[in-house]
Amino acid sequence: MDSATVEIKRGLEGVVFTETHLSAIDGEAGQLTYCGYDIEDLAAQATYEETAFLLWYQRLPATSELEMLSNWLRSNRRLPKVVWGIMHSLPESATPMEALRTIASTLSMFDRACIHEEVGGSSLCRSVSLTAKLPTIVASFDRLRGDRPPIEPRDDLGHAANFLYMLTGEEPDPASAKALETYFVLLADHGMNASTFSARVTASTLGDVYSAVVTALGTLKGPLHGGASQAAMEQMIEIGSPRDVDEWFEKRMARKERIFGFGHRVYKVEDPRAKILREMAETVARRSGNTQWYEIAARLEERVLAHPYFDERRIKTNVDYYTAPLLYALGIPIDLFIPMFAIARIAGWTAHVLEQQHDNRLIRPRALYAGPRGVEWHEMLDRSPMVEAQPDAQCVAGRPANCPAALQVPPRFWPA
Ligand code: SDX
Repeated sequence: MDSATVEIKRGLEGVVFTETHLSAIDGEAGQLTYCGYDIEDLAAQATYEETAFLLWYQRLPATSELEMLSNWLRSNRRLPKVVWGIMHSLPESATPMEALRTIASTLSMFDRACIHEEVGGSSLCRSVSLTAKLPTIVASFDRLRGDRPPIEPRDDLGHAANFLYMLTGEEPDPASAKALETYFVLLADHGMNASTFSARVTASTLGDVYSAVVTALGTLKGPLHGGASQAAMEQMIEIGSPRDVDEWFEKRMARKERIFGFGHRVYKVEDPRAKILREMAETVARRSGNTQWYEIAARLEERVLAHPYFDERRIKTNVDYYTAPLLYALGIPIDLFIPMFAIARIAGWTAHVLEQQHDNRLIRPRALYAGPRGVEWHEMLDRSPMVEAQPDAQCVAGRPANCPAALQVPPRFWPA
């Protein structure tokens, strides 16, 4: 294998590695379906429980089946007692995504059967358990960090309404619960996005569902993926008012800095979810009486989409952009935005894990070696240090303790 015989697909762009029966994305037409159902129909009519059923069983549930799944989820919302001790001992500096990743990981320790993962049945049980517990973890962490007692789940409330209740201690108004439910449905699955792909890689080694979900949580966090909604809201707060959008935009462009909430590896027209989220963000903002953040978002979107730099690259509004003012208007703290994405996407992650387990092949791509060849062995005495080590080298602030300056960055990665 050499550079003359292989074409490197950076970021695996356009690479198809498997078949899926879950979601289909048409990036040119701007269409998204889950198991054949259009996202517009699902957003308007399906509950999150129905959507999770659809992804796990690849058909919509009958009434009795939906009742059974809803009860199954509700009976799995509570966390093992020991987890509360772990949650209380998390450092104050812990972010919600770090807490979610940590606590989700501990849940496998209460499920000894998962050490020998069987395909299918037990994986589905774990998928239901994790889907039910993520909202409890996120809401409880937020309450504890604010020195407020966690709130027990309410079995008479649906998935989205119960999350808002556990977060605030008040039963949400139906419009807010429906808005959050629609957000969860819209983000439940999305083909081979980075976090789903990483979950499938873990599942392909016959890793268990917990490990696959923890892998996905780590992948989701980055601002190029799930972290974009938090970054988009931080942009809007930095702008501060609709009249300051233009100046902010000009400066951002002059600095050649990415604007979060725009662009997508697959969609070359507007993300169909963005259209629905834009309408929801406006409705919720008007109902709340504070349209400032929605107006900032709308004005910034207008500037971005009108700019040739974005038009030439077919960069359009993505799912994370209007998620920002929507969740903010619903009173969700900004650093809970990525956990909200995880609470929605866990149904998709676990559905893909089940699909991978059903027809598995270890996922293991290749890389073209571009390093030196035929290097002769050098005895220690013949080797000279990269740089003259300073014996009193101090580690640079923020780097791991005892990180000697002389070993910080290998020469090959030094800026040219
Ligand atoms: C999600 O994959 C999924 O399905 C993900 C998701 C899901 O539901 O799971 O849809 C959720 O993650 C949505 C994306 C959220 N991310 C952001 O909003 C971050 C900002 N967007 C970009 O970083 C970017 O658009 C990506 C990462 C989303 C896609 O990037 P690609 O396909 O790798 O494209 P690229 O980074 O190579 O960009 C191509 C060009 C570059 O410029 P040039 O080298 O041609 O000069 O477009 C530019 C980029 O600099 N560009 C942007 C930009 N996005 C791309 N420039 C400014 N602002 C942006 N937002």
